[in-house]
Amino acid sequence: MSTPSADLSGRFSIGGDLPVRRLGFGAMRITGDGVWGEPADPAEAMRTLKRLPELDVDFIDTADSYGPEVSERLIREALHPYPRIVVATKGGLVRPAPGQWIPVGRPEYLRQQVHLSLRRLGVERIDLWQLHRIDPKVPREEQFEVIRDMQKEGLIRHVGLSQVSVGDIAAAQKVLKIATVQNLYNLADRSSEDVLDYCEAQGIGFIPWFPLASGSLAKSSALARISERHGAAPSQIALAWLLRRSRVMLPIPGTSKVKHLEENVAAAAIKLGDTDFAELDALGKKSAQV
Ligand SMILES: NC(=O)c1ccc[n+]([C@@H]2O[C@H](COP(=O)([O-])OP(=O)(O)OC[C@H]3O[C@@H](n4cnc5c(N)ncnc54)[C@H](OP(=O)(O)O)[C@@H]3O)[C@@H](O)[C@H]2O)c1
Repeated sequence: MSTPSADLSGRFSIGGDLPVRRLGFGAMRITGDGVWGEPADPAEAMRTLKRLPELDVDFIDTADSYGPEVSERLIREALHPYPRIVVATKGGLVRPAPGQWIPVGRPEYLRQQVHLSLRRLGVERIDLWQLHRIDPKVPREEQFEVIRDMQKEGLIRHVGLSQVSVGDIAAAQKVLKIATVQNLYNLADRSSEDVLDYCEAQGIGFIPWFPLASGSLAKSSALARISERHGAAPSQIALAWLLRRSRVMLPIPGTSKVKHLEENVAAAAIKLGDTDFAELDALGKKSAQV
């Protein structure tokens, strides 16, 4: 079997000047249970990260809160100085305990977290920094303004938002340029369809998190029928559907295992025809059946 390549997923230019292959990697799973502490198998997590460039994956998503700190640190250990790789990180969520995520959007905190990510990743500027959540306790404009300031100061190249509405994006666009949006989206969860359509119209990259519905789409029996036709796994069909759904789609399937990474990247080679795409689309909308 030939080596899978993310190159077959096509390219998207983040912010109009930072091209990446559309099929990326989510680095939340290279941490411990509850996205807390070290991964269960650190050697396999390291092998997974080092395999990324060999599979032409050049877009990695992480966050200061994954571990916390663990994901950014392992990415640096495996891949620094990131030749031809874009590492996107996020800030704005604190972790009081495993499995807990609390938004903190005070400007001084966001600024501190950008500095800490710069230090941990070992870079002078973060290629794509995403506000992990808008903190409802802080006026959103204050959060956007400090990010704009850090962009002007050269700490951040491009700015993204996460788990936002069309109204949030439009409000942010009054203050700064938004290059990407990262929302929950997969074949079976289409609650952000309006946000995806808005991003496509605006040329904003759309990064669907939980692209495999946290692994459950990999076991879907409904997807199995179409998968068999393509000689592929259900998880690969779910990823191929995402890639076909929109030219601004940048899926970031997460895994801590080389075998799953290779399988996910191989999905870039699957081209769904119109009939399969429509069948999957209808199936996904009736999410109970997927
Ligand atoms: N912005 C946000 O608020 C937010 C929230 C959640 C996640 N994210 C980002 O989105 C990325 C993706 O989300 P996710 O990792 O939570 O969910 P996901 O990609 O939908 O699924 C990951 C899960 O599926 C399993 N898996 C991966 N590939 C597989 C395969 N080929 N066959 C079978 N199982 C497979 C993984 O287990 P193994 O490790 O065993 O492979 C893991 O448990 C994250 O890594 C993170 O970067 C962002």
